[in-house]
Amino acid sequence: MTKTHFGFESVDEQEKARRVRGVFDSVAPRYDLMNDLMSMGLHRAWKAYTVMVANLAPGARVLDIAGGTGDLALAFAKKVGPTGVVVHTDINEAMLRTGRDRLIDAGIVLPTLACDAEKLPFADGSFDVVSVAFGLRNMTHKDAALAEMNRVLKDRGRLLVLEFSKVAKPLAKAYDWYSFNVLPKLGRMVAGDEASYRYLAESIRMHPGQEELKAMMHKSGFGHVDYHNLTGGVVALHAAIKV
Ligand SMILES: C[S@@+](CC[C@H](N)C(=O)[O-])C[C@H]1O[C@@H](n2cnc3c(N)ncnc32)[C@H](O)[C@@H]1O
Repeated sequence: MTKTHFGFESVDEQEKARRVRGVFDSVAPRYDLMNDLMSMGLHRAWKAYTVMVANLAPGARVLDIAGGTGDLALAFAKKVGPTGVVVHTDINEAMLRTGRDRLIDAGIVLPTLACDAEKLPFADGSFDVVSVAFGLRNMTHKDAALAEMNRVLKDRGRLLVLEFSKVAKPLAKAYDWYSFNVLPKLGRMVAGDEASYRYLAESIRMHPGQEELKAMMHKSGFGHVDYHNLTGGVVALHAAIKV
């Protein structure tokens, strides 16, 4: 059995998928509140920046992978309008259901689909833009997922990966202290789940940094890849073109 990481632990690949599912089953009901508290609202600005870079035209076809509670899908749907399509997907049904309910409450009905990013159920060349926000880090075979994202994009289509990244050196000490002391406690108090927020802090440290992810995206078939650091590299937006 091949080993991989679940946070700082080394686990079997199947065990990782099972435990990631456990994390999101557990946090789904409090996910949005926790995002606001943990990032002090900054995740809204990071996502707004992603929507701006996506620069979607009315009528565009968009796939949001690991879409969770639907922040990006909702914002994209407003941009593509009634002639466009935004498909809201996630591997986790609890997250997807929470997102679908939020979208319906906002008056937006989108195709919502449970699927694994590593085996996407779409034909080649189906989308103008594919997005994945804070999802890639949790995937077992990131290279397979990136190759699938490339496959379902049209030629000259764009992939946007918003993800935690390597923070600038002067911020590192404070950021580590916050991640390993404050986050798990916040998780325990607000979501009743300390372990999932410890996994969050650990998984960020195990995720490839800006340049490493850029190289992985090139390897997965993207001709042009660029990234933008946000909040001192706490998060990076990688934008790639299928050429
Ligand atoms: C931190 S949440 C991000 C949700 C949302 N995109 C956001 O930015 O708020 C990560 C999501 O990745 C999903 N995920 C993990 N592994 C996945 C996979 N292999 N395929 C699709 N989604 C996956 C989880 O179920 C979870 O909903």
